[in-house]
Amino acid sequence: MAKARTLFLCSDCGGTAAKWEGRCPHCGAWNTLQETRESPTAASGHRYAPLAASTPVRRLADIEAREQARNPTGIEEFDRVLGGGLVAGAVVLIGGDPGIGKSTLLLQALASLSERGPVLYVTGEESAEQVALRAQRLGVSGDGVDLLAEIRLEQITQALVERQPGVAVIDSIQTLYSGELTAAPGSVSQVRECAAQLTRIAKQTGVTLILIGHVTKDGALAGPRVLEHIVDTVLYFEGDTHSSFRLVRAIKNRFGAVNELGVFAMTDRGLRGVSNPSALFLAGHSRDVAGSCVMATQEGTRPLLVEVQALVDTAHVPNPRRLSVGLESSRLAMLLAVLHRHAGVATYDQDVFVNAVGGVRIMEPAADLAVALAILSSMRDRPLPAGLLAFGEIGLAGEIRPAPRGQERLREAAKLGFEQAVVPRANLPRQPIEGLIIRAVDRVEDVLGVLS
Ligand code: TYD
Ligand code: MG
Repeated sequence: MAKARTLFLCSDCGGTAAKWEGRCPHCGAWNTLQETRESPTAASGHRYAPLAASTPVRRLADIEAREQARNPTGIEEFDRVLGGGLVAGAVVLIGGDPGIGKSTLLLQALASLSERGPVLYVTGEESAEQVALRAQRLGVSGDGVDLLAEIRLEQITQALVERQPGVAVIDSIQTLYSGELTAAPGSVSQVRECAAQLTRIAKQTGVTLILIGHVTKDGALAGPRVLEHIVDTVLYFEGDTHSSFRLVRAIKNRFGAVNELGVFAMTDRGLRGVSNPSALFLAGHSRDVAGSCVMATQEGTRPLLVEVQALVDTAHVPNPRRLSVGLESSRLAMLLAVLHRHAGVATYDQDVFVNAVGGVRIMEPAADLAVALAILSSMRDRPLPAGLLAFGEIGLAGEIRPAPRGQERLREAAKLGFEQAVVPRANLPRQPIEGLIIRAVDRVEDVLGVLS
């Protein structure tokens, strides 16, 4: 028998190296190589057989394209991020911080799906009794839900093949353990191997598989990035565990749009969908405060109003702090440089903190204008006019660039009672929007005028 080899696997890209190095030779990431023992059986033939039966080369035009049937979960906000429902044979990865509600959401979804076919919940984290207790608390019926408390991959795949459930949830992929590898559960090689084997089963049997994954401190899924490549859909839970709101975002979706957002509220009976979430992310100050600006962001097909806050304070150390929560920190540094260079606003001796209210993460550049306004407002200790919102990207040359779907953002703001908007000139609507006074800005210098 061949000797078991020691390999070093990169936790970022999944690449391998024969010896330990500080830097992954494949993706260049530092400190990501971890030692694993690859048993010789892992490389045996059948595991890497093609996913589907081989077919001859055919013309693309001759292949009948059928729209895949959707199996809605019955939870509207969840279906929205999935692109309408689950697709047979699809593998969905859902990640998020511990305690954010992954198990809760999927138990609710399975209970609802069980009305239309057999479903299986595999738990490697909790005992069967704990899951039953949760179901009881959620008030969902466990009548149609099969439960398997198991972490051994071989047992799980056997159950999947024998029972052929329509949908199966694996809670969580990091607890699974394949007997063919000697590495510990949760290690890169185990996670990768288990996910690959389960994906194979899903494609062969048509079971829709939902894998739950944990995230590391820096917000990435623990285990190799390859996990994101092999699955069809990647969803992330976002939100502040201290508030009751939870966001589920599609990062990748082979069957729908990405960046679609589902909004939930955690209640004592589990997660409830929030169909009109715009008002949630506004802090609701009793009076006008400096350093706050509302922006209209576009999340998938839905406009969302979010409050952006900034605090600018005299720095007491030579390198002032720049900190952003829920907004891109590299853009903050850029924005401060543009404000200085083109609008003469100097912050080199000031600490600057910015925050998106409600634990929401805004990654689109259209947040720039609202961030700049909040910063200016905090610096001057002067509140922005009440009922004002802003959006637009600020370029390095100081120009203000339009944001996609400007009209929809403005309409949403008008619907929620906003009275003034500051937008890039190209986003000026052709027809006026009732109740909204819209001011167009071309350059970052013009933004200063909003506060005076
Ligand atoms: P859980 O689904 O166990 O999180 P995860 O699987 O992502 O780790 O969620 C647990 C949290 O949700 C816990 O803090 C308690 C809370 N919770 C409620 O507020 N209401 C409920 O009905 C349930 C079941 C949980
Ligand atoms: Mg859980």
